[in-house]
Amino acid sequence: MDKYVIKGGVPLVGEVEIGGAKNAALAILAAATMTDETVYIDNMPDESDTNAMLQAISSTGAFVERTGRHSVKINASQIHTFTIEDYIKKIRASYYLLGAFLGKYKKAGVVLPSGCNIGLRPIDQHIKGFTALGAQVSIEHGIIDAHADKLIGSHIYLDVVSVGATINIMMAATMADGKTIIENAAKEPHVVDFANFLNSMGANIKGAGTDVIRIKGVEKLHGTEYTIIPDQIEAGTFMMAAAATKGDITIKNVIPKHLESISAKLIEMGCQIHESDDAVRVVATKRLTNTHVKTLPYPGFPTDMQPQITVALGLASGISIVTESIFENRFKYVDELTRMGACIKVEGSTAIIEGVDKYTGATVSAPDLRAGAALVIAALTAEGFSSVEDIMYIERGYEDFDKKLRELGAHIEKVDSDYDMQKFKLKNA
Ligand code: EPZ
Repeated sequence: MDKYVIKGGVPLVGEVEIGGAKNAALAILAAATMTDETVYIDNMPDESDTNAMLQAISSTGAFVERTGRHSVKINASQIHTFTIEDYIKKIRASYYLLGAFLGKYKKAGVVLPSGCNIGLRPIDQHIKGFTALGAQVSIEHGIIDAHADKLIGSHIYLDVVSVGATINIMMAATMADGKTIIENAAKEPHVVDFANFLNSMGANIKGAGTDVIRIKGVEKLHGTEYTIIPDQIEAGTFMMAAAATKGDITIKNVIPKHLESISAKLIEMGCQIHESDDAVRVVATKRLTNTHVKTLPYPGFPTDMQPQITVALGLASGISIVTESIFENRFKYVDELTRMGACIKVEGSTAIIEGVDKYTGATVSAPDLRAGAALVIAALTAEGFSSVEDIMYIERGYEDFDKKLRELGAHIEKVDSDYDMQKFKLKNA
């Protein structure tokens, strides 16, 4: 089983290039099936989540061709299967095919997604939206079935700000008859990118990026060529790695506006931030200072950055408080971090962090994607050797993570045997 082995204590210095946004790509790939014409997508990250989504799409009979590591051509004119059974375990976001197929074919079926390591993750708001548009939605034998003679535009109020529900309902409403309004919509950059993609196919969507999205249904969508935005969370992860390792990293190919809440926190923690049109430089020359964070829907501080900032605050002077307001179980990694010497007490949805001078190397296990990346950051700061196991979670959403870190000076390698582990330790003794 692959794992990362790390020798910590080296400040990360240099430049890193950010890839395409995973959470935009997953939605965009699903929506590419909504036309019978060919769709060309570029700047798609080469990660296990996006690759699993491509497999799910291909399994329905769509034509999928990788034209490069980061580009794909999709033609959905030959789709013959409207129920996706095998892929939900591999990729939760395959439920986006519900909205896509309901919009285009007025019928769709997907295995009900289970919860995951960060919370229950219900999809009641998705179902509420589909039902409001006139679909019959039922759950039988673990499969969500949605179908409609036709979809009629509706005024939908989301009870909770949900990225997935906003995206899924937008897809179905795009090909409904008449107007749909989605209130309390999610405003994340990947929601806006997704709306822009659908509009490039001939959809009529206004207001993405605000609380109210207005959609005028269209009969058909046409092919398009589209380039996905940079990944806000991959960029934020490297920003936090610069802070935690007292390094100096220029994060290239980003949209600084998408990173404002992260930059603001890093400035509060004593880092210097230099922004240009498509890059952000983070410099951390002295020990970080404490601050308090509450995760919120965009433009608030992203929940997907919560583990990473907790790791950095675990080394800051003073007491910090991190409150997780989006998911109900997103502090599981704190037990692992404690084994590296962190002094953190979790009370419900709040972590009370007493900064320590250093972490010490240990063997830890990644409980989920972002927590796994955060534990790698902790290991990069730690005294001595660490190994991070279950890195398949990390590779779901970070392309070439160890390679990019090595290029910043990190002593990190992916190994799959004790022999290679020992070789690394001898080389870096
Ligand atoms: C997306 O998940 C992201 N995944 C998550 O990123 C991210 O953490 C999350 O949005 C919040 O930004 C993808 O885009 C593939 P939500 P999603 O619906 O859409 C509740 C990562 O690390 N809710 O915005 O599933 C839900 O339980 C992943 O890349 C309902 O109650 O998140 C949560 O408390 C992790 N009913 C809150 O809303 C619903 O029908 C926000 O969830 C839907 C959601």
